[in-house]
Amino acid sequence: MKSPGGMLLASIELDRTGSVPLYRQLYLQIRQQILAGHLHGGMRLPSTRTLCAELGLSRITILNAFDQLTAEGFLEPRPGAGTFVCAEWGVRDAAADEPRKAPRLSNLSQSVLSLRSDHFSGISYAAWEPGCPTSFLPSHAAYDAFPLPIWKRLMSRHLRQPTKDMLSYGELKGQRALREAIAEYLYDARGIHCSAQQVVIVSGAQQAFNLLGMLLLDPQDSVWMEDPGHIAARIAFQAQGSRIVPLRIDEEGIDVQQGLRECPGARLAFTTPSRQHPLGTTMSYARRLELIEWAGRNLGWIIEDDCDSEFRYQGRPQPALYAMDQWSRVVYVGTFSKVLFPSLRLGYVILPEALVEPFCAMRAVMDRSPATLLQAVTADFMREGHFLGHIRRMRALYQARQHCLLETLQKRLGHFIRVQPVDAGMHLIGWMPPELNDAAIAQGLASQQIYTYALSDYCIQRYLPPGLLIGFAGTPEEQAVDKVEALAQGLISMGYRL
Ligand SMILES: Cc1ncc(COP(=O)(O)O)c(C=O)c1O
Repeated sequence: MKSPGGMLLASIELDRTGSVPLYRQLYLQIRQQILAGHLHGGMRLPSTRTLCAELGLSRITILNAFDQLTAEGFLEPRPGAGTFVCAEWGVRDAAADEPRKAPRLSNLSQSVLSLRSDHFSGISYAAWEPGCPTSFLPSHAAYDAFPLPIWKRLMSRHLRQPTKDMLSYGELKGQRALREAIAEYLYDARGIHCSAQQVVIVSGAQQAFNLLGMLLLDPQDSVWMEDPGHIAARIAFQAQGSRIVPLRIDEEGIDVQQGLRECPGARLAFTTPSRQHPLGTTMSYARRLELIEWAGRNLGWIIEDDCDSEFRYQGRPQPALYAMDQWSRVVYVGTFSKVLFPSLRLGYVILPEALVEPFCAMRAVMDRSPATLLQAVTADFMREGHFLGHIRRMRALYQARQHCLLETLQKRLGHFIRVQPVDAGMHLIGWMPPELNDAAIAQGLASQQIYTYALSDYCIQRYLPPGLLIGFAGTPEEQAVDKVEALAQGLISMGYRL
């Protein structure tokens, strides 16, 4: 075993080029060794002579460090015997020196960890770097086209004249001006008739799904989920202990008849009717009526996730489920993540009146309301006409980007993947031959910094051929050829013949 002196000397590393004085570096490192229990009470430190020789320091530097450690009760000089670690630092419990064990986690935390790691196996959080030149991640918008000068101007206006509201907690439901702007926008764009009282601002749609799960579900309650469907929402409900009932998607949307056959008494249905996520199907009018009828008659709830209804390129948008619901069973969830940018962390929930107070109570316990400054800027952005202008510009831009990426993919990879234009949203699906494993392909590509998602990650039961989600919104036309070539080379290097 190493002597304490040897241990100390081996662990000291000095930076002779940095701005921190050497005596302070020595002081900090000895203190850290004592706090971590590597040097314990009663240990004798090497003599100043040894330290001078081994560390190449002057005696005065060492004495300065020792003096400070002595003054702070870490060291005690004993005349004639040397310098010792003060007795009160004790001998560390041997158990503390065992290799660190995994922390003991709650059942909820363990289930979230394992549910999360079942998905996105090829993609790490690092892959979300928006600047990655070979990323096709579907959730990335055209950050290059965001009107930052306008945003900056609106932000400066609020910072120049900060109100008390700006510095305080703000209203629990979210800023009134923003709630009013959202209610007005949804009336025009989605046919939703609601008051600002029914709008609650949340930090993104994902928070809404978690809060709604806590509000509406008990353990063992059944939840109809689209299959394939939005993974993060599913995990939020599974974490509450609910039982997932996967329902297939056909050309009209979620298969309500399957739900009625397999589990008519479900408590909740989660759906993305404007643009089924991830397949892109628009739910038909008849299917909407069927779903609402189920909820009304069975006292079920519907969560309508309308995360990117703004980006529709073909056909007229269907009215929101919320707008068609006579039974007050639909909760509408919207987000600014796609239409503005995700780091804003602003989303909203439109609640039937009976749920407003219980939802707010839950929200107050979780985290109150998002940053008031960002809510105020977003409200101005909407009220002063920038929001609608931005949507119009992005719709045209995304349509052009989709067209260009689709053509490039067809030309370069048309024998390997089959792509078709989508009516809405921000990604294409590249369908692949049935014998291939899309998860392995996504993982192999990710290891070469080419990021896509495997369709199978979104599936609960496997009934679809393999596919890759390929985002087009974040792929400028002039980059399409290079990015598709990188994708092709990535596939070739994995041994696929294109
Ligand atoms: C289907 C779907 N719903 C909602 C969201 C938005 O989540 P958030 O508002 O938490 O960013 C996403 C984000 O990628 C999504 O894909």
